[in-house]
Amino acid sequence: MKFNLAVIPGDGIGPEVLDGALQAIRAVEEKFSHQIVLAEAEAGGAAIDKTGEPLPRETIRACKNADSVMLGAVGGWQWDHLPGDQRPERALLGLRSELGLYANLRPAALHKALADACPLRPELVPNGIDIMVVRELTGGLYFGDRGRKQTDMGEAAWDTELYSVEEVRRIAVMAFSIAQKRQKRVTNIDKANVLESSRLWRETVLAAAREYPDVMLDHLYVDNAAMQLIRDPGRFDVIVTTNMFGDILSDEASQITGSIGMLPSASLGGSGFGLYEPIHGSAPDIAGQNLANPIASILSAAMMFRYSFHLEEEAAAIESAVTKALEAGYRTADIRGAGAAPTGTKEMSGIIARNILAG
Ligand code: IPM
Ligand code: MG
Repeated sequence: MKFNLAVIPGDGIGPEVLDGALQAIRAVEEKFSHQIVLAEAEAGGAAIDKTGEPLPRETIRACKNADSVMLGAVGGWQWDHLPGDQRPERALLGLRSELGLYANLRPAALHKALADACPLRPELVPNGIDIMVVRELTGGLYFGDRGRKQTDMGEAAWDTELYSVEEVRRIAVMAFSIAQKRQKRVTNIDKANVLESSRLWRETVLAAAREYPDVMLDHLYVDNAAMQLIRDPGRFDVIVTTNMFGDILSDEASQITGSIGMLPSASLGGSGFGLYEPIHGSAPDIAGQNLANPIASILSAAMMFRYSFHLEEEAAAIESAVTKALEAGYRTADIRGAGAAPTGTKEMSGIIARNILAG
């Protein structure tokens, strides 16, 4: 098969970790005889430096012309002083909304070989951790009306949480369909005891659930969910939640699996087109030092083969190449135990690509 892939290296460790994913993609291409044509585009700080804006029209066009997009990371201290709508992070929000990527899949799984990296006591995770966070990505607080005004208490600012039935229905449907291929359990997370938007959200999730009688649905308020994630993470299979709550809970879920450097993500619209990126940021403090963990980016490539191209064997080949590298004892600095020598970004990427070809 032939695919067109837009690649956006971005800032900080973005280019280094994306290179790991591209090595894995090249290995899959060779092993399974596909043809993958790359088109590089710019976004984030790199784009600001070159064009003055974080998300040039050309980048959006390159993404729309591609079958899917892989992104490294964006952001860095050089651009922190810029006003909100000109910051590198705007590029991510712009890509998500321009490309209609309303569903963000963030799997948090604990690799057996990394059991020691889990910060929870072993008795709290008797059966490991395998959670899929399904986060709404183009609505809610991130995209609602906002502004500032003068009040008798001085200057004030507001953001709005607004969700329509259709926005909630489609993300619920995504969560239920994913659950059908897993343990068939969905936990809806909201704040329906306080927020009207959460009450509509919950009603809509309940209505959508009627089409999925084989999936078990339960509900947690977000404060309780934050607690249950570190008290009993094994109770979760698929989580469905809003943009804001999903942002927060997916970082928490990632940390209990050992390192945020391990976790990939997929942002999907209706059609199979997707944007794939590690859930971690650009980590400018370690950029260019061959220290970053490329695994989240490499596993994002696996998600691309699975969700955009429906090539399960290719996805599994990447995932088992990662597992094999970990089982052989290779560790980047973020997941290394005391005393062990760390493997560099380039070396780890090379080992995983070779495992794919040998697998
Ligand atoms: C994420 C990030 C982004 C978000 C930022 C960088 C805009 O934290 O992808 O989780 O808040 O969505
Ligand atoms: Mg986040």
